Amino acid sequence: MKLLVTGGAGYIGSVVAAQLVEAGHQVTVLDDLSTGHADAVPSGARFVEGSITDAGGVLPGMDGVLHFAAKSLVGESVEKPGLYWANNLGGTLALLDAMRTAEVGRIVFSSTAATYGEPERSPVLETDPTRPTNPYGASKLAVDTALTTFAGLYGLAAVSLRYFNVGGAHTAEDGRVYRERHTVETHLIPNVLAVALGGRDAVSVFGTDYPTPDGTCVRDYIHVADLARAHLLAMEACSPGEHKIYNLGNGTGFSVQEVLSVCREVTGHEIPAVVQERRAGDPAVLVASSEKIQRELGWKPEHPSVRDIVADAWDVLPR
Ligand code: UFG
Repeated sequence: MKLLVTGGAGYIGSVVAAQLVEAGHQVTVLDDLSTGHADAVPSGARFVEGSITDAGGVLPGMDGVLHFAAKSLVGESVEKPGLYWANNLGGTLALLDAMRTAEVGRIVFSSTAATYGEPERSPVLETDPTRPTNPYGASKLAVDTALTTFAGLYGLAAVSLRYFNVGGAHTAEDGRVYRERHTVETHLIPNVLAVALGGRDAVSVFGTDYPTPDGTCVRDYIHVADLARAHLLAMEACSPGEHKIYNLGNGTGFSVQEVLSVCREVTGHEIPAVVQERRAGDPAVLVASSEKIQRELGWKPEHPSVRDIVADAWDVLPR
């Protein structure tokens, strides 16, 4: 297929682009490089630097779009909600309009567990209530809602994948490494590994008074290569007039303290930790049921172990 990957110079988008190229697809990456890196675009893909609001120029002749380009920092979204609504919802509506004009009828969308907010039960099912607690999650949920409407009205074939906590790194068949490289890093595993490398003095543990076994937040970690593979299955499973939504996680929760222990084991470093106040908007427990995507699309994680996720991220960090 001829596929457009928006945000394909970012962490997850670049891994998906690499897997699509390996699978024999013709891939064009559209990325404005606001947070991505041009050198993360796989060598077999064509790169166009630009915004999703200008996708009209690259869409003609495409069979489908995998849409990653978005603002994705929860904290920033609370401070600058307008930026999140404009980019994530406004930008996606412009992309959907351009897709209609160019008669491109398939989209796989990068959604998030943040659409659920503070879940009432664990693991979370796709049918559970969506009550986002920050503008980031709200903007992604708004796109999910728009996709449902567009599928019903215009026959769009859409799949939303709701990611839980993505980690690890991917080494492609050609030996190229794809890893997390955020200028502003808020995620737990890369922050912990930065301390192990000696780049920072201590890890902050945000809150030890949550209603969890050790008091720290529990999350469901998924390997970026497993997550990426789901996008290829989703693109094949797109069906005109339908919007399908799938959670993507491993179904097992690990607390912040447990992740820290795994990182200490994998790296052999002591990794000092300092307890801080809770971070605003963090749900206590977020664990996915991915039963639906396993059942309907035959997706199966190949690297479900959190130890492998940490080890793969650690092994490729430049020393
Ligand atoms: N944490 C720390 N110290 C850090 C970083 C994180 O204690 O230095 C804690 C957080 O408070 C949280 C857990 O580690 O309890 C995981 O935090 P991350 O920032 O790694 O991930 P989140 O669960 O906050 O966020 C992820 C995605 C978001 C998405 C969200 C869904 O990164 O994009 O899941 O709820 F919105």
